[in-house]
Amino acid sequence: MPLTNTPEWLALKAHADDLAGQHLRDLFANDAQRFERLSRLGLNLYFDFSRQRLTEETIRLLAKLADARGLHSRIDAMFAGEKINTTENRAVLHTALRNRGDRPVLVDGQDVMPEVRASLDKMRNFVEGVHGGRIHGHTGKSFTDIVNIGIGGSDLGIVMATEALAKYRNRNLRLHCISNIDGVQLGDVLEQVDPARTLFVVCSKTFTTLETLTNANIARQWIVDRLGQGAPARHFAAVSTNSKAMDAFLIPPQNRFTMWDWVGGRYSLWSAVGLSIALALGMDQFELILEGGHEMDEHFRTAPFDKNLPVLMGLIGIWNRNFLGLNSLAVLPYDQRLHRFPAYLQQLDMESNGKRTTLDGQQIEWDTGAVLWGEPGSNAQHSFFQLLHQGTARVALDFLVPVNASSPYQQQQNLALANCFAQAQAFAFGQTEAQVRADLAAKNTPEADIARLIPHKLHPGNRPSSIILFPRLGPKTLGRLIALYEHKVFTQSVIWGINAFDQWGVELGKKLADSLAPVIENPAGTQIDASLCGLMDHVVKWRG
Ligand code: F6P
Repeated sequence: MPLTNTPEWLALKAHADDLAGQHLRDLFANDAQRFERLSRLGLNLYFDFSRQRLTEETIRLLAKLADARGLHSRIDAMFAGEKINTTENRAVLHTALRNRGDRPVLVDGQDVMPEVRASLDKMRNFVEGVHGGRIHGHTGKSFTDIVNIGIGGSDLGIVMATEALAKYRNRNLRLHCISNIDGVQLGDVLEQVDPARTLFVVCSKTFTTLETLTNANIARQWIVDRLGQGAPARHFAAVSTNSKAMDAFLIPPQNRFTMWDWVGGRYSLWSAVGLSIALALGMDQFELILEGGHEMDEHFRTAPFDKNLPVLMGLIGIWNRNFLGLNSLAVLPYDQRLHRFPAYLQQLDMESNGKRTTLDGQQIEWDTGAVLWGEPGSNAQHSFFQLLHQGTARVALDFLVPVNASSPYQQQQNLALANCFAQAQAFAFGQTEAQVRADLAAKNTPEADIARLIPHKLHPGNRPSSIILFPRLGPKTLGRLIALYEHKVFTQSVIWGINAFDQWGVELGKKLADSLAPVIENPAGTQIDASLCGLMDHVVKWRG
């Protein structure tokens, strides 16, 4: 039976119709306990969803839907190493990478934990070697610059986590991350660094990604030109599942780090892809991130749905997407250190749940993944919040905010908190005609102007948001937050009946780019698709 015909879905639809006329102002006014009822504390994350347009009954109905969709058994299947990524016939075990207990994790009957632990030991040895100078460049100089080359999951998590935890950075090592194809990042970094003191870490699960291989090959040649043929062996490390490609790139065994096909690219920061994080922050900090992730795994595996933070977040997302028709989620961290968190979540969420086919190959007839985007507050307030408050587009919001400052200036974080809470209130309750009138009258505004201004100054409110409040941003908290969103995404994929772990949609563009690259390089004599002729004429005319 299609999802939208199930009794649980139909019950939610009827419930949404019942609630439709009620403003968040009414929902709060009618229930003095609303905040207590619709907020949860777990792992030092305070999840306040009282400003979502729902009631306890909504949560009860959503939990019934989750039961009916088999969420419990899907969670168990993931943790047990079943091949739930069916289009690639792979297990999904990023959770094994942060399994800090002694629980074995079996893939095809084989416990993968010994390999996971061996990989962590190898990372620690390498990181400590670089930090202590035992691992050094070709001319004997210690490293001062790490250049991570990778894209997507082999870049975004590294950038996000090292920015978030910048206060833990090793002061003797600078980290640079190069991902994009256009060469700008690479050119800028190579201008700044000393080849004798630079270590490149090439991260690519497949080691076939055009951007990464292009950047890595140019970097390699740059080292050869400056330090000689033998130098890359000391100036390159790599992380990949593809050992043949690492052979071809002449990465020596002590500098190569393996990963497994059961780690999805966008979940790979927990694997040796985190090497650059560990180099930048130290292995102890990296392991604390893993611990935070593991704690969230245990919570997700064991907490009842109505107390389970990722499940609740996922279900609220379903409510907003499928029953309130909100097709966009803005993530707004009120801590500058989290400025790349929305970008990180974009890949996690949209590459996972941007699907239109069910697990058994049927075309989907309900909405799936929302568009996710965001910026740190309070910058965001001064750019796009106008549209969120008064525009016609309707967007769900996640506010993330630590109580204690990530800077030395707690007073400023107090202001960040005030802004965050104020925005959540404004989105929920808006500003009524009576309030606008009273405000203007208090400023002695003439009646004619009051009447003219009221429609412009009204804030409709009823814009749903959640607040995730936590004591401070540190490695464990970051690990918890990342895993929270990972499991939220998985929860939604189970409800929608889609595979959150493949990404076939990115392949077509890659294939076309491969075939167009030689045409752009040398258009003469090639057959050019009619749709591109005009553009190619100008490429040829303008190329300097
Ligand atoms: O963009 C698609 C994708 O496959 C992502 O899933 C992945 O994170 C990225 O490319 C990079 O892939 P790789 O690590 O294999 O270079």
